[in-house]
Amino acid sequence: MYDIIINGDSLTELPKLPAESVDLIFADPPYWMRTEGILRRTEGTEFHGCNDDWDKFSSLDDYESFSLQWLKECRRVLKRSGSLWVIGSMQCIYTIGAAMQKLGYWLINDIIWHKTNPTPNFTGSRLNNSHETLIWAVKDRKSKFTFNYKTAKALNHESPSKQMGSVWRFPVCSGNERLKDSQGRKIHTTQKPLAMLERIIAISSKPGNLVLDPFAGTMTTGAAAKKLGRHYIMIEREKIYCDYGHERLKSITFEDSEISRADYDVKPIKATMPEMIRAGYFHEGEKFLLADGKEYAQLQPDGKLLYCGKIIDMHTCAALAKNLRAERVNGFDYWCVIRDNHLVSIREIRENYRNSLKH
Ligand SMILES: C[S@@+](CC[C@H](N)C(=O)[O-])C[C@H]1O[C@@H](n2cnc3c(N)ncnc32)[C@H](O)[C@@H]1O
Repeated sequence: MYDIIINGDSLTELPKLPAESVDLIFADPPYWMRTEGILRRTEGTEFHGCNDDWDKFSSLDDYESFSLQWLKECRRVLKRSGSLWVIGSMQCIYTIGAAMQKLGYWLINDIIWHKTNPTPNFTGSRLNNSHETLIWAVKDRKSKFTFNYKTAKALNHESPSKQMGSVWRFPVCSGNERLKDSQGRKIHTTQKPLAMLERIIAISSKPGNLVLDPFAGTMTTGAAAKKLGRHYIMIEREKIYCDYGHERLKSITFEDSEISRADYDVKPIKATMPEMIRAGYFHEGEKFLLADGKEYAQLQPDGKLLYCGKIIDMHTCAALAKNLRAERVNGFDYWCVIRDNHLVSIREIRENYRNSLKH
């Protein structure tokens, strides 16, 4: 059963889910903020931070035992190829990180969410808290988890085409994105930015995967999952958040794109040289030339090349023929063949062959 909101307590609802049934879990648990009294902005107005009943715990032992319980259940329902992401602040992330390691999770990354519009420290009594931490973990060290590396690169708008790093900049959820009631008051004190959830889901799950959030709040995770074509199970204890969340999810539609399809990370169709020879895209004995047309080698039936009296693979041969320092390069970047009196890259011919297999 998926694409549902379960209005209930995760400690009783998670045990009802089948073992190893979920591909990705995002958890934004109560942080146990321990805020006291009324917080006021410098001009005197009241600031509504997180002082909710659902965020209260009696002691560190109480919070630790709660964390161990839900993390243990999450580990049970997570597939061997799945990922768990947990977000927290200094109040809770060390307890959660320790509990995760106690339970056998294997940590992949910790990510700093640098808030570009943080709430000021109104009293000026300490540094302004301008980040939260995300922990990305898998079931155990041997897990073969999804990481859409190229999709992450494509999403790295700050440093285009560079590897995505572990400091992410997003504004705190505000403006129209913030869910409000009919009086214009915010529904939830800790609604997370949709763009952050989209990034997490896009880089660590596949289209059609199942995403679980055991502390779903305003259903930000469900919204991102639906937008990206993933399924979801959202668990939330407070009915009011479920009601607003339900309306929110109704308004979201799937957005088909290279990111949602994880196109950048789709493995290309296998195309070996002997297969392409058999299919008539290359011919046994034909000349393989470098782009300047000067050096050439001769194609053998097994896809290797005859060059200066030796039979060698085309990648080593390209490095030799180009007189490069590397012993081996990607031959598809260097070799050409003659078609209709023109030099044509063998990469282009391989693409034509792959395209022919798609139809
Ligand atoms: C930090 S908020 C999550 C906010 C959410 N990520 C969003 O973007 O709206 C934590 C949520 O967990 C819910 N919660 C707390 N304890 C719970 C429990 N034992 N089971 C299910 N939900 C719980 C709270 O009601 C609250 O909405």
